[in-house]
Amino acid sequence: MRSFRTTEGCRRPHASDMKIQRYDYASQFDNFEDLIADLRSMIRQGHYVLSQEVGQFETAFAKYLECSFVSAVNTGTDALVCALKVLDLRPGDEVITQANTFNATVAAICLAGAKPVLVDVDEDSFLMNIGEALAAVNPKTLVLVPVHLYGKPTSMRELLADSGNQRFHLVEDAAQAHGARIDGRRVGTFATLGCFSFHPSKNLAAAGDGGAICTNRADLQQRLDAIRALGQVGQNNHACLGYNTKLDSIQAKVLSWKLPKLDEWNEQRRQIARMYRERLSDLPLRFQAWDGKEEHVFHLFAVRTDRRDQLLDHLQASGVDAVVRYPTPIHLQAAFSDCGWKKGQFPTAEALAGELLCLPIRPNLTEVEVDYVCASVASFLKGNVGIGRAYSV
Ligand SMILES: Cc1ncc(COP(=O)(O)O)c(C=O)c1O
Repeated sequence: MRSFRTTEGCRRPHASDMKIQRYDYASQFDNFEDLIADLRSMIRQGHYVLSQEVGQFETAFAKYLECSFVSAVNTGTDALVCALKVLDLRPGDEVITQANTFNATVAAICLAGAKPVLVDVDEDSFLMNIGEALAAVNPKTLVLVPVHLYGKPTSMRELLADSGNQRFHLVEDAAQAHGARIDGRRVGTFATLGCFSFHPSKNLAAAGDGGAICTNRADLQQRLDAIRALGQVGQNNHACLGYNTKLDSIQAKVLSWKLPKLDEWNEQRRQIARMYRERLSDLPLRFQAWDGKEEHVFHLFAVRTDRRDQLLDHLQASGVDAVVRYPTPIHLQAAFSDCGWKKGQFPTAEALAGELLCLPIRPNLTEVEVDYVCASVASFLKGNVGIGRAYSV
């Protein structure tokens, strides 16, 4: 476990010097000479597409997830589209998901040719309202897609237990939750299929785009491998319609190199989350529910306040790179205007869109930086805006 740099013996920079960045992608490549050497030799060998590096990453990620198979693709969006396609969607099939997710979850449902059905969100977990989701199931429902938003696992055991023997598939959108666990089991592996993104912002990040689908079913894995490669099964034999969406060999190598560090990075995120929750506990803020039993991986650290927009302005003026994820819920996005959803239809998703703010969280955020963010939040919420700006000692 990492020990944090403490404030002791460390001169705090003046507030006006402070810039608390949300991301620090490049720092994950400190001491990467061995990776560069491997990449150099790989490039010199001239194998770039579905090379052994892709297979090695798929095997390593499957082992990490403790599931049987992984098929690696170009993006998390493609992972979702391929996962839905492999389940033999037919026109008119419905796929249920939540109204507060990133656009890609619902775009993938539409791109795969299904009808998206939205349900509202739980007030405390900020995740899918499981009761509403199961109530929305009907004979046209082919798939239900819970999203482990901000890195918090959806209660998969509850979902599986309560879905009983209803005939639909579960596909987990785990794009924000690599490594998160429930009772020791990794998210992505509870459902028929689990989908991941390796966008540079993610907990496990490529040096570009990437995605993957995991499953325990050999038949689905074989078909996924065909779907990601234009339906090809063996040279010149195209068994089905497919996409051209293969994880790049260079990204596979980068991901294999980073994977052994993922659990430590996730633990660092949890430590930062604990610090935030402790230091901000006496302020009028609400946090995403976290009982400490599940292994939340804090892709984002969300706080809820009805003065969100003003707090965001204040933090940005103080050099804190806070952000809103997501300011417009899915049902109010122009891209989905054909779906016929209305304002007011998913009130909790709308409330969260107006009240959630994400504070910077990344594995190498220091305690000094956490303290500065907390002081800035406190100075605003306690009405002493001057305090955060006069932070230097
Ligand atoms: C919840 C969720 N689903 C899907 C995706 C899509 O992943 P990608 O950007 O790799 O296509 C993302 C990426 O931001 C995401 O956050």
